[in-house]
Amino acid sequence: MKCLPLVLFAVSSGAFAQTPERPFQPFHLPQLIEGKTFNLDLHPDRKVFWKGSKGTPTMCYNRESFWGPTLVFKKGEFIRLNVKNSLKEPTTTHWHGLHIPAIMDGGPHQMVDPGKTWSPTFRVANNAGTYWYHPHAHESTQNQLTSGAGGLIIIRDDQEAKLKLPRTYGVDDIPLSLTSRRFKLDDKFSFEGDNDKYGDYLLVNGVMDPQITLPGQWVRLRILNAEVERGYILGFSDNRTYYQIATDGGLVDRPVPLKRMKLMVGERTEILVNLADVRPGKHVDLMAFNSNQPFGFPGGELGTAPPNGGYLNNVDFRILRINGGKKTAKAVASLPKELTRNVFPKLSAVMKERSLLITADNPGEPFGFDEKLFAMDRVDHVVRLGDTEKWTVKNNRIFGHSFHIHDIQFKIVSRSDGPVEPYEQGWKDTLYVPRDESVSFIARFDDFASNTDAFMYHCHMANHEDGGLMGQFLVVKDLTVGTTKFRPKMKHTASDELLRFARETTGRAAPTFDGQDADGRAVNLASLAKTKPVVLFFIESQCPCTKEATVMLNRLQARLRDVRVVGVINGNSVVAKAWMKATKPKFSVLLDPGLQVVSAYGAKAAATFTLVAPGGRITKTYVGYGREMLVDLASRVAGFTGSKAKIPNFADAPKELVVGCPFPK
Ligand code: C2O
Ligand code: CU
Repeated sequence: MKCLPLVLFAVSSGAFAQTPERPFQPFHLPQLIEGKTFNLDLHPDRKVFWKGSKGTPTMCYNRESFWGPTLVFKKGEFIRLNVKNSLKEPTTTHWHGLHIPAIMDGGPHQMVDPGKTWSPTFRVANNAGTYWYHPHAHESTQNQLTSGAGGLIIIRDDQEAKLKLPRTYGVDDIPLSLTSRRFKLDDKFSFEGDNDKYGDYLLVNGVMDPQITLPGQWVRLRILNAEVERGYILGFSDNRTYYQIATDGGLVDRPVPLKRMKLMVGERTEILVNLADVRPGKHVDLMAFNSNQPFGFPGGELGTAPPNGGYLNNVDFRILRINGGKKTAKAVASLPKELTRNVFPKLSAVMKERSLLITADNPGEPFGFDEKLFAMDRVDHVVRLGDTEKWTVKNNRIFGHSFHIHDIQFKIVSRSDGPVEPYEQGWKDTLYVPRDESVSFIARFDDFASNTDAFMYHCHMANHEDGGLMGQFLVVKDLTVGTTKFRPKMKHTASDELLRFARETTGRAAPTFDGQDADGRAVNLASLAKTKPVVLFFIESQCPCTKEATVMLNRLQARLRDVRVVGVINGNSVVAKAWMKATKPKFSVLLDPGLQVVSAYGAKAAATFTLVAPGGRITKTYVGYGREMLVDLASRVAGFTGSKAKIPNFADAPKELVVGCPFPK
């Protein structure tokens, strides 16, 4: 790891002068998108971060070169987002802080493959405030975030609109997304996982050393900590008082006067600051007063070398140079006394308490919750819809963490390290848990339930999250029904065992079966395969992969009429009908609730296909589906029937074999 050969200005004295090598750069205001339909395109890009640089490969949304446009949503509106993945790798886009159904949430289960567009729709339910969006693909969040993918969301509502607050974007209402990067000698971002949790150069909206001219009046700053791991102690260079007006989830009741506040990874704050005294020709700096933090403060570690050091560690540094400008015509003249009246859930309403313990076996080993690393197919908690719960996050290991939970906004009720800070009294979705401390919050889990789609909770430090400090919970209507076995969408690869099984069954006599379809009609192999070849498709009803394979099999059935495709599903007629309604097969479905057909054929996973020749011999067994396999299957079928029909080319089938989920034992 080498460092950019520029003069660093990590300062702890009062001298914040730029060097000739590091001139100020103009502030960047991300483009604003308003409306009800939002088109986002996440793509690779390049950005020149300093004069003379060769440029750095980046990722961004909508040609922002780094980061993304600011989206403006209106509370109550029904919106649609079309998120195109123009990267060469899978990704997701998560709407951080929004209260929406899990399937729209953009967590690790809502994968978008390269070239594909994901279009979630939802009603905006959150209060006016500052939220954000960013990739959330399991194990690649840090990489994609480091490359620059993310953006801010501003929600507006009637309550906020009534107040006399600065809200002219880019004039007196300024978005500030803070993050830092380390560069290699070839000007690329250094990305070595945990080694690069701390950047050496601060970027504000993707700009190094920014300066802005702001009017001499009350100005609103919307600040997001978009770091991988670093925390910020926010303040101004002249120690002036500023006023917090909103936390993660929107307005606080009354402005909170502050000189310093912690803003940890994932957290947002909105502040008002009066710049009336910063006349043209004068300036004041927004600062990170990060020196002399206790051990465990992210970015407090001494030294400049990886894995734990960095040039911005344990020093005070400038975030933004603010030059005094002229007052605008519609300047906000004073600070409102009251902002809103939040109604928080009450401790007396708590029906269930849970605690999460952050664990790690040894220093250097990945952090997990309760001795477990994140697993895509494990549900860690099940919450009943409508319940108020109290969650306590305990951290007795090594280092501070930034805990975030999806779906809800919560109220922090206690901290083991002292009183709840004045600047965290409002709605929150992210909180800081210092080393050796614990924090409790209460929340009501309302509106959105699903037995199959989970919400995440995790440390928002992307290196910790990717490393396994993440869990998931379902919100369900009825705990007694039992949660449907959770089947995440993930690529199961064909194991040696499965491939061996496929070879061994080929050529055998097909086991016969007698059963019925979802409408109670009799189905048996002998009659099906009398004259036509049969494709048996084994379906695990909860496995998303089988839904996608169905699209391909529909095409096969439509093109090659002389084949009979039969789906064999592991459920009764209720399960089968629900599956058929969701999946729309153009073939019949055989009920196999006791898994008898599945075991007679030895199928170990869903999306296993068995081609039975007319008369009843297994021509070939395929484990999983993919383009090559489907073309092979189709040409074998065509071979039997002498069909002249064109074999579909299955262009949109996966290139690699996708093996479905294993059948329940
Ligand atoms: Cu900002 Cu789970 O996310
Ligand atoms: Cu962490």
